[in-house]
Amino acid sequence: MITAGRDPCGLVCRLNGEETQRGSTDELVFTIPSLIHYRSPFTELTPGGVGASRTATVWMKPGGGVGAGWGRAAASRHRRPRGREHREAGMQDLTETGITEAVLQQMADTPDPRLREIMAAAVKHLHAFAREVSLTPEEWLHGIRFMTEVGQACTPFRQEFILLSDTLGLSRMVNILHDGRAGTVGTETSLLGPFYRDDSPRLSLGDSIAKQPGAAAGRREIGLFGTVRDEAGGPVADATVAVWQTDPDGAYDLQAADPTAMDWRAQFRTDAAGGYWFRATLPLGYTIPLDGPVGRMIGAQRRHGCRPAHTHFLIGAPGYRELVTAIYYGQDPHIDSDTVFGVSQSLIVEPQPDVPGSPFPELDCVRFDFTLARAVKGDETSRVGADPSTLAAAR
Ligand code: BEZ
Ligand code: FE
Repeated sequence: MITAGRDPCGLVCRLNGEETQRGSTDELVFTIPSLIHYRSPFTELTPGGVGASRTATVWMKPGGGVGAGWGRAAASRHRRPRGREHREAGMQDLTETGITEAVLQQMADTPDPRLREIMAAAVKHLHAFAREVSLTPEEWLHGIRFMTEVGQACTPFRQEFILLSDTLGLSRMVNILHDGRAGTVGTETSLLGPFYRDDSPRLSLGDSIAKQPGAAAGRREIGLFGTVRDEAGGPVADATVAVWQTDPDGAYDLQAADPTAMDWRAQFRTDAAGGYWFRATLPLGYTIPLDGPVGRMIGAQRRHGCRPAHTHFLIGAPGYRELVTAIYYGQDPHIDSDTVFGVSQSLIVEPQPDVPGSPFPELDCVRFDFTLARAVKGDETSRVGADPSTLAAAR
């Protein structure tokens, strides 16, 4: 049963007692689903029966009561078409809440249902945000200028928008939502970040991901190894394991003077037992790129801008959800305050000597076993991001 009425917060529509739509507005348009008995204990709508879906409008009456009628334009049929009262109720005099409903109405016929849902929610939240902070024209322009600069900072080697999303926690939020939709439980995901590249060198198991291996670069060389498994614990053979991390100075190759040269990244293939193993150096923690608009925002917020030391992984195999994650080195001073919120307890590691089964007995090693969840149609990857060159090429 559908009911429509008002409460102290505005107009509300309920289906079988559950609130389906609400608007602190003068008018609320909603669709009565087909095959639903319609009853109206506290509006003027006459009881309906079973039928095709219909659109109804409820509106505030000048005296505080509620009017209701069938059709999108029902309210206008009940308005007196002249004088002050008409102007108050008409679209030409939008209030700070009426403007939200007006935009939603214009977008209501968007044929793609997901686009309609996303845009309606985006408009509602954007408007609510502006109302909450009472946004001034100057602040609005400041925001426009900032977003323009974020776009202008993007190149085939730099993705400032992803950095913005990361620092606002949005990328992590998308990862959390993605993990929650998994059909089977896999290794927790973490951020792809702005430094992933599709075409990293294919190396052989056991190789070092550094062109100049760790010891030669004067850093602590470590070994990383483990297995890639399915949810039943079976090995995933021939999975692609892409790895990337910073150089011993805490910078990615994409940040070097020649960003086309690749180093500290590679792709491996698991063996028949699902195993992977390679050499690296213990990465350093680093600050995210702070020389652009996002860096200015971080500075204005008095945030340290650091990421704890980590090694990134992107693991894929046919039939499984692509896993994007990272392992985080627990001794890093910023392990609890990552600027981009990528760390989870289950991803924290510590290189140790004499790790059982290590293919590198001479090195401190990390063993990390990954579990791939089964693929879910339409939700196949935990990549929250992309190789920056592919985004720049999309223009
Ligand atoms: C990274 O780990 O590569 C990263 C992630 C988010 C923002 C900046 C860097
Ligand atoms: Fe990183």
